[in-house]
This record gives sequence, C-alpha cells and structure tokens, in this order.
Amino acid sequence: MEMNIRPYERGMAAACAEIAKTAPDPWKREDFDKLPGGENHACFVAVDGGGQVLGFACFLAVCESADLQLVAVAPSHRRQGVAEAMLQYGIRVMRERGLQRIFLELRVSNQAALALYKKLEFAVLIQRDRMYSKPAEDGLLMVRYL
Ligand SMILES: CC(C)(COP(=O)(O)OP(=O)(O)OC[C@H]1O[C@@H](n2cnc3c(N)ncnc32)[C@H](O)[C@@H]1OP(=O)(O)O)[C@@H](O)C(=O)NCCC(=O)NCCS
Repeated sequence: MEMNIRPYERGMAAACAEIAKTAPDPWKREDFDKLPGGENHACFVAVDGGGQVLGFACFLAVCESADLQLVAVAPSHRRQGVAEAMLQYGIRVMRERGLQRIFLELRVSNQAALALYKKLEFAVLIQRDRMYSKPAEDGLLMVRYL
C-alpha cells in the first residue's frame, strides 16, 4: 500500500473526525478545526496514493516532553502498519526538536493500542484508578524516552 506521512491541514478535519469516532474517547469535529494549534502542536496524517486520509496522530509539546494526545486509524486500514509509521515519524520529529520523552495515557482495556505502544518501546509508568469515565476504567500512563 502506498502511504505518505504529512503534517495535518485544516481541510483534513472532516476525514480525521470521522476516523476519530472509532476511538474509545473520540475527538469532535471542532477539536480538529482548532488544529494545527500553534508551534507546540504537531499533528500528522497518513494518506494513501490518492490523498485519502487513513489515520492521524497528534502530539502536544510541553517543555521537554511531548504528550501523544490521540492516534487513530480508519478501521478499513488497520493492521497495515499505518499507526506504527505515523508514530515512528512523530518520534523522529520530537527527537529532532530536542525533546526528552513522550508521555501517553490509555485505557487498560485497549489491547491494540497497548501492543502498538509496547512495540514502539513505550513503557508503563503507572496504572491510575478510574482515570476514565463513560465507561469508568483504569488508565495506564506510559513513557518513551527519546
Ligand atoms: C490502536 C490503533 C491506532 C492501531 O493502528 P494500526 O494502524 O492498526 O496499527 P499498526 O498496523 O501500525 O500496528 C503496529 C503494531 O501494533 C500492534 N497492534 C496493532 N493493532 C493490534 C491489535 N488489534 N491487536 C494486537 N496488536 C495490535 C501490533 O504489535 C502491530 O504490529 P504487527 O502488525 O507487526 O503485529 C488502531 O487500532 C485504532 O485506531 N484504534 C482506535 C483508536 C485508539 O484506540 N487509539 C489509541 C487511543 S490511546
């Protein structure tokens, strides 16, 4: 599959919001309309040869750390390396910016995301009780040193 990773652009908001609906804690269309939200935000999309958006990954840099805010891939294109490619790209960009680490949080039940992050060398720091609502669930805080 032909795939390119590019910076997010406003015109991609609708496509990204559609993909985001499939995440456990989705972002809304308005959230994407606010992006890119300044120099601390780094959002990337994966597009196929025809320019169709396959997925997105959004990072927010704060001091020497970045938070991976959300990553999601269209259900039709999962398990084809799309998320891995976007996150590897993001990790490289964050390292080039001189950041030291990337944090993220996820629901304990999100086994696909957990496997993805472990493959990319994120490590669990702590489990937080009932970090999530709707439904209530524990969360994992993970870190990846750069
Ligand atoms: C999690 C998600 C982003 C993974 O995207 P993806 O493009 O399918 O992932 P990739 O194909 O790049 O997978 C890379 C690795 O992650 C792991 N992985 C991904 N999906 C997996 C699954 N369903 N089950 C087990 N491992 C999985 C595997 O180790 C995989 O490597 P492999 O294919 O060589 O075994 C996708 O399932 C998704 O969009 N989920 C909904 C949104 C979400 O939960 N986001 C995370 C919120 S914290």
